[in-house]
Amino acid sequence: MEQKKVGFASGIGFILAAAGSAIGLGNLWAFPYKTSANGGAAFVILYIASVLFIGLIVTMCETFIGKRAQANPISAYKKVHKNAGWFGMLAIALPTIIICYYSVLGGYTVKFTLNSFVGNAGVFNSFAGNIGDVLMYTAIFIILSLMIVLAGVKDGIEKASKVLMPALFLILTGIVIFSLCLGEGVKDGLEFYLKPDFSELTWSSVLAAMSQAFFSLSLGMGIMITYGSYSGKEINLVKSTIMICIFDTMVALLAGLAIFPAVFHYSATAGIPYSELGMGGIGLMFQTLPFVFADMGVLGQIVSLLFFAMVTIAAMTSVISLIEVATQFVIQKFHTKRKIAAVTVGTFCFAVAIPVSISLGKVLNGDNSMVIFGQNWLDFLDLMTNTVLMPVGAFLACLAVGWIIGIKKTCNEIEQQGTKLGAFRPVFSIMAKYVTPLLILVVEIFGCFDLIMPMGDNGRSFSGNGLGIVACSYGLLALCLIVYFIFFRNTETGTNEDEHIVDWEEMVDQSKASK
Ligand code: PHE
Repeated sequence: MEQKKVGFASGIGFILAAAGSAIGLGNLWAFPYKTSANGGAAFVILYIASVLFIGLIVTMCETFIGKRAQANPISAYKKVHKNAGWFGMLAIALPTIIICYYSVLGGYTVKFTLNSFVGNAGVFNSFAGNIGDVLMYTAIFIILSLMIVLAGVKDGIEKASKVLMPALFLILTGIVIFSLCLGEGVKDGLEFYLKPDFSELTWSSVLAAMSQAFFSLSLGMGIMITYGSYSGKEINLVKSTIMICIFDTMVALLAGLAIFPAVFHYSATAGIPYSELGMGGIGLMFQTLPFVFADMGVLGQIVSLLFFAMVTIAAMTSVISLIEVATQFVIQKFHTKRKIAAVTVGTFCFAVAIPVSISLGKVLNGDNSMVIFGQNWLDFLDLMTNTVLMPVGAFLACLAVGWIIGIKKTCNEIEQQGTKLGAFRPVFSIMAKYVTPLLILVVEIFGCFDLIMPMGDNGRSFSGNGLGIVACSYGLLALCLIVYFIFFRNTETGTNEDEHIVDWEEMVDQSKASK
């Protein structure tokens, strides 16, 4: 029986899968409200600069680290340097933590999709407070995502991305056109979203733009390393990375064009001042928008179905990538079957999602009996990963490329792999070695400061014990180090070669031929 190496079948498969990971709740939900809260178009400029100076370069570095090693993040970093393997431990731990809260939100989106014809207006708090329901939808969301991961890289992740990404784009474009044609209120909505107001830009906005770029592009963890490891000579590192960044930014921008005109149309026709509508946080998507859809009658039910289906798709392709990182490692380190690895990861994350959803449900309903450092568990985990640890992961990737492998060697290797760097070579060299890591350090330091001593509203309205959160985050980093040195430092951690997949098409051909 023919056995093939695990990996994407085509360059476009890699690009769509990586874009699927990048495009998620961060684009459809967080980006629009952060933009409106931070000076509109002025924020968009900051965001695009962050993508160019940080996002693009880190995406390239991480994909390169994975591609050259053809292995999971720990083995990939071991290949960078025998003492750098622990960078990969963090790169595996972070996505695993993110699944635990991201899938609770994924569960919400499944519920809101299925409930579109019944109506979602006003149901959010009671739904979020009903733990049985929340857990059921979270389980459905995780199981659906797992089914794609179980089918493998080429037949699951790649095939699903090739269908789901165009579908998402189509739905989004349709909703944008629909929203822009609503008439009354549209202009105000566009103004609220995009009107440049440089006076509203603060240090907090700069920080918000940079950390949004990290989250949105799924950086600072193993995702681009893992997906990069499944790619080969067929991808052009520079072109693919640019395309991923363009898709991701475009979807984020379009999401605001879909949401704000509709919300302001509702505000104008229903006579409710927009200041009384929740325009940020969890409220915008799950509380305000359902009223906007309800106001449109039957048509609104269809728009609601399409909108939440699109959000579910976006969340799912992100969670798939998160699950894949840990799954890849378990398969390669413990020589298990994909089935066992993925189900183990899914079960673990569902178990942690239980207290997360209970805590969130309680806080949304005014009960603060289950908070950590002043935060519900979801925000706590989000702050730990997104604000404190993702920049650390991204910094380590730059360190690996720019300083440990060395930038000259990196560029030579990239060219040997078939990507012409040309005039981009000096730009990439300076950025990856100096500029990007320095900017990341700024994000890290100010991000931690902002938690400990909040500088202002950056769309998060943070209150709580930031010092505790920062301490926990670094505690987790220390734990990663300890676990790595005890269990993985001196043992074989495997490569993509350890997962063999059966090529069914070839098998069928062979059996036909032998008949
Ligand atoms: N990039 C995804 C989003 O924008 C979230 C995500 C973060 C996914 C980190 C994977 C890893 O929602």
